[in-house]
Amino acid sequence: MTTAGKNRLYINDVALRDGFQIEPNFVATEEKVKLINRLGKTGLARIEATSFTSPKAIPTLRDAEQVMRAINREPGVVYTVLVPNVKGCERALSCNVDEINLVMSASQSHNRANLRMTCEQSLAQFAEIVKFAGPSSVFINGSLSTSFGCPFDGSIPESRVLELVQQFLDIGIRGVTLCDTTGMANPEQVRRLCDAVLHRWPQVPFTVHFHNTRGMGLANVLAALGTGMRNFDASLGGLGGCPFAPGATGNVCTEDMVHMLEQMGYDTGVNLDALIEIARDLPGIVGHDVPGQVIKAGKADRKYPKPAWVSDTTAQDAGTQTCTSR
Ligand code: COA
Ligand code: ZN
Repeated sequence: MTTAGKNRLYINDVALRDGFQIEPNFVATEEKVKLINRLGKTGLARIEATSFTSPKAIPTLRDAEQVMRAINREPGVVYTVLVPNVKGCERALSCNVDEINLVMSASQSHNRANLRMTCEQSLAQFAEIVKFAGPSSVFINGSLSTSFGCPFDGSIPESRVLELVQQFLDIGIRGVTLCDTTGMANPEQVRRLCDAVLHRWPQVPFTVHFHNTRGMGLANVLAALGTGMRNFDASLGGLGGCPFAPGATGNVCTEDMVHMLEQMGYDTGVNLDALIEIARDLPGIVGHDVPGQVIKAGKADRKYPKPAWVSDTTAQDAGTQTCTSR
């Protein structure tokens, strides 16, 4: 996942999971399947397709099995799903997923609000899951919510995050995502934490997951990029948010992020035009406007027709005209 050219980045779209988990309305299973199938053809490295959580906790993703069994699996795309406990793992494995993305929080309060467990109970579930999933070829990733701050407990010491990453790895979790659940991270903090984990565990595939709640999302992506981070979560249209984190809003928007990175000369592997076309259909699917900017503004190389008084006028003529018209 992290070994190709220095400019190659790997994007995981989480709209179907992080986005749809907080939507007020249920998006029809058929629509979800269509969306995943379209996204699968854009060159994304990973798609977080759904979550195997309690349907009482996340009713809009209650069709997880149906979705996973109906989608086309594009070769080269990793289809990952969020899993909070052993029951979720059993359900995910029954659907032959490529990756299980375990979730817990760095903070006790958010873990209890979101998962109704202590952090220690979550870690115990993870150990069981790794044993249970061991014989399958499924990749186990661990997402650490509130790694950059908790809406209940406030700031999270870096040492706490490092200690939990070590515990993930000791259990046998192979990849780690550092999540800024409610957009509390700032670029300097991101630089410090990313630097710390990449230096301490250079062989581990780390991913960063930012929410744009305070407008710092893309700045945080750049800060992570500067440390050598190469795997990024983002959400089509900028949908997203945890229903159990007060004030949560959308993730960094995938098409805005890909647009920025490609303009800067990075290779995301993503066909941006295809992605934008899909994102433009999103308001129709969810029934409201979405935060993404590039679908509204167009790409940076968009050119507008000049006004009639500009189009056939040379710079010199324009100067003369300006003088004479004064
Ligand atoms: N999938 C489906 N059903 C599940 C489940 C899973 N992974 N885990 C538990 N359940 C069911 C149980 O079977 C039980 O059903 P019943 O009431 O019909 O008997 C019910 O949910 C309660 O089980 P329990 O183990 O007591 O769970 P809980 O109520 O303590 O909730 C979680 C714990 C983790 C299952 C729940 O809080 C959850 O799914 N949270 C996910 C939150 C989330 O996705 N947040 C956003 C992402 S960060
Ligand atoms: Zn999130």
